[in-house]
Amino acid sequence: MIGEMRGAIFDLDGVIVDTAKYHYLAWRRLATQLGFDFTPADNERLKGVSRMRSLEILLEVGGRSFDPATCRTLAARKNSWYVEYIRAMDAREILPGASEYIGLLRKAGVKTALASASKNAPTILERLGISGLFDAVVDGTQVTNSKPDPEAFLLAASAMGVPPRDCVVFEDAEAGVEAARRAGMGIVGIGRPESLKDADLVAASLGQLRALLPWARCPAGR
Ligand code: BG6
Ligand code: MG
Repeated sequence: MIGEMRGAIFDLDGVIVDTAKYHYLAWRRLATQLGFDFTPADNERLKGVSRMRSLEILLEVGGRSFDPATCRTLAARKNSWYVEYIRAMDAREILPGASEYIGLLRKAGVKTALASASKNAPTILERLGISGLFDAVVDGTQVTNSKPDPEAFLLAASAMGVPPRDCVVFEDAEAGVEAARRAGMGIVGIGRPESLKDADLVAASLGQLRALLPWARCPAGR
């Protein structure tokens, strides 16, 4: 259940920016090198999942397996391609209404944090010019257990100084929705309701939420 929101925690990929297309291009390039196909449908399984787990899923799709050292080399190769793509990003790639919505919550006195599984999150925030929209940033370099473990969200809540029960998570991936549930937080799913069944509320984008969340009240107006 969503109560009054004092802290808002945002996933990055798929909520603020569509980086899934760049992850896909880089993973597909690796699959092609390894001699198998990797389809957009296969890519859906990688959303919200850590880099090494993504590689495991990719290799499972291609029916291949490698020793741990080779896996690290393959993941690093994919990441170097991915970084080439994201270095070319700019503010035009922010999803419609996302910065405005986060800015609106901040104006209403809600603390904001980013909690992403991506180790590249700081580069992406910098490219988009939106680091200033967050009181706290938790990225893939700061967590030991990736989503669906609640660690990233709990760390973000603690960095904002807001108890988990007063936080709402904005997530596009099933693994993230489960992590938010395990953290005891409210959940707004961003995307299609069919794939976000456990969310308290689902919207197509952050831009659509302005009218939907009357409970994001201004403390001064209470
Ligand atoms: C998540 C993405 O945000 O970050 C996943 O949804 C990705 O698809 C994960 O695998 C890790 O990203 P990175 O940038 O550390 O490889
Ligand atoms: Mg995501």
